[in-house]
Amino acid sequence: MNNFIGLHQSQLDTPALIINKTKLLNNIQLMHSLTKNKNVNLRPHAKTHKCTTIAKLQLENGAIGICVTKISEALVMAKAGIKGLLITSPVVTTTKMNNLIALLRLAPDSMLVIDNLENAIQLNELLQKNNLPLNVLIDIDAGIGRTGINMVNVVDFVSQIIKLKNINFMGLQCYAGHIQHIPNLQERRALSHNILNKVSKIKLKLVFQQIKCAILTGSGTGTFSLDAEINEITEVQPGSYCVMDQEYNNIEYKEQLFVTAMTMLTTVISTNHKTHVTVDAGTKALYKVDTKPRIISHPHLSYDWDYFGDEHGKVFNNNTSNNHTLPQLGETLELAVACDPTINLFDYFYIVDENGIVIDRWNIDLRGCCQ
Ligand SMILES: Cc1ncc(COP(=O)(O)O)c(C=O)c1O
Repeated sequence: MNNFIGLHQSQLDTPALIINKTKLLNNIQLMHSLTKNKNVNLRPHAKTHKCTTIAKLQLENGAIGICVTKISEALVMAKAGIKGLLITSPVVTTTKMNNLIALLRLAPDSMLVIDNLENAIQLNELLQKNNLPLNVLIDIDAGIGRTGINMVNVVDFVSQIIKLKNINFMGLQCYAGHIQHIPNLQERRALSHNILNKVSKIKLKLVFQQIKCAILTGSGTGTFSLDAEINEITEVQPGSYCVMDQEYNNIEYKEQLFVTAMTMLTTVISTNHKTHVTVDAGTKALYKVDTKPRIISHPHLSYDWDYFGDEHGKVFNNNTSNNHTLPQLGETLELAVACDPTINLFDYFYIVDENGIVIDRWNIDLRGCCQ
């Protein structure tokens, strides 16, 4: 069963996701110390890793709780004993609301965002029937148009919400996902501050009206350190930093902070052409995003998924003038990939030490929880 322990990573069956434990822990501890120095709380988003073992490591290293997007993810976290959950997307429909009640029985301190009064009234009725309170944050649209209410309506909305007996208004969430990957640091800072300064004013307005607003959260890996410069921010919810996404490797930082801790292994399975080889990871193992995987084990090679589809990838020499040859049949390549959607395609992370020796295997136990 555990016959992979002690293998070198190159001996693992592929495609496989591997995590370098030292790098993962360094990323987790670094985020904690950076946020602590800036006096903001850290509630990391688990949408990246989808793994209760990593969530526990984040909590052991200073996080005050864990964010998830879906109620099904929250239930897995709660069953694993994780507290301080924040569900960062609205819970609508009877099935999901009943699951929320189940969650509150397991983890009463869980919080949920809301962005609709009718939904809040329905939730309140269900909570009353079950004699349960619910802590909520109001989700504010940062300009994406995804979820959240328009900034101009927030104060009125809150004044309606606080009338609902079983709903405790705790604060505000505003996550600007469209800004996180802007390459230029100053541009990213200016856009993010512009949004969060407006949200800060809303918070101050509420406080002026004697409405307690304990939490103002938002921010991902691309803006957490910039957003923490704003006084009213109380916590941040970055996700990708722990394993470090390939897309985040391409943007400019104040300091270069986090390192790629998770990679994918794929094997060369056909070598009958002078121009390229075929590997065993296609789009069923590598979620297709704008940023292509980078072959970190062989920098002269490039991965191309446009030709070979679901189960296969094409790998070619990107510099034909150099002396490098194509890899051999059976050779393992190591890739830096887009993390979130790729992790959701796998059951396990293989955990390796600094020498690439497999020391553990962790379940990606929130994998597939998209309800
Ligand atoms: C609401 C919310 N919060 C936090 C995050 C984490 O952001 P990142 O992975 O960019 O750090 C995301 C990512 O999509 C998100 O949707």
